[in-house]
Amino acid sequence: MVNSAIMDLLVESHGEDTWQKVKSKAGVEDDMFIANGSYPDEITYKLVGAAAEVLDRPAGEILNQFGRWWVLETARKSYGHLMKSGGRNLGEFLKNLPNFHTRVVMMFPKLQPPTFECTDVLPTELRMHYRSHRRGLSAFVIGLLEGLGEMFAVVVTITHEERLDDGADHDVFHIKWSENKTA
Ligand code: HEM
Repeated sequence: MVNSAIMDLLVESHGEDTWQKVKSKAGVEDDMFIANGSYPDEITYKLVGAAAEVLDRPAGEILNQFGRWWVLETARKSYGHLMKSGGRNLGEFLKNLPNFHTRVVMMFPKLQPPTFECTDVLPTELRMHYRSHRRGLSAFVIGLLEGLGEMFAVVVTITHEERLDDGADHDVFHIKWSENKTA
């Protein structure tokens, strides 16, 4: 599902040629990923690395763009109902995020989802703690959170306060939003 979303993003934003180049650089054979098939994580990392080379952008930027795309295109189109059930505004959605993948697990038996935890919850800000057995995806998480802000039409400021890569126990994001676009 994630790999086919990467394919869609590349084809729609950069054209079929770019996707073909990325695919061959990554050494990926499949022309179509089965939407609910299970593939090794390695393929996703290879696709992101190859996209970074072909587009000459840092991998973090590709992951960020992909996170936003995933929320705004893939999730809204394919999981509209599930996304709607997550909350009526950003605050509600973020507070429900810790339970979100629990529901998704029922749809995907081999899922090894990340865990999220909210602390310091105030009306328009909170801290999101992200833990995963996968490495290197914090830029993807930031993209997803930015996409959620856009989905709810609010201005979001995300500060990556603690980083696993810098020796912290896990990644912590401080998220602050304003309900009014002009505020
Ligand atoms: C309808 C909505 C959603 C569905 C169906 C969904 C489903 C999934 C699936 C299938 C995976 C792959 C896990 C695996 O292969 O083991 C995944 C990973 C992930 N999801 Fe979701 N998800 C949804 C919403 C969200 C949202 C809103 C966030 C917001 C932060 C999020 C954050 C992540 C992250 C960061 C990963 C990467 C894997 C990791 O860190 O280990 N997801 N999700």
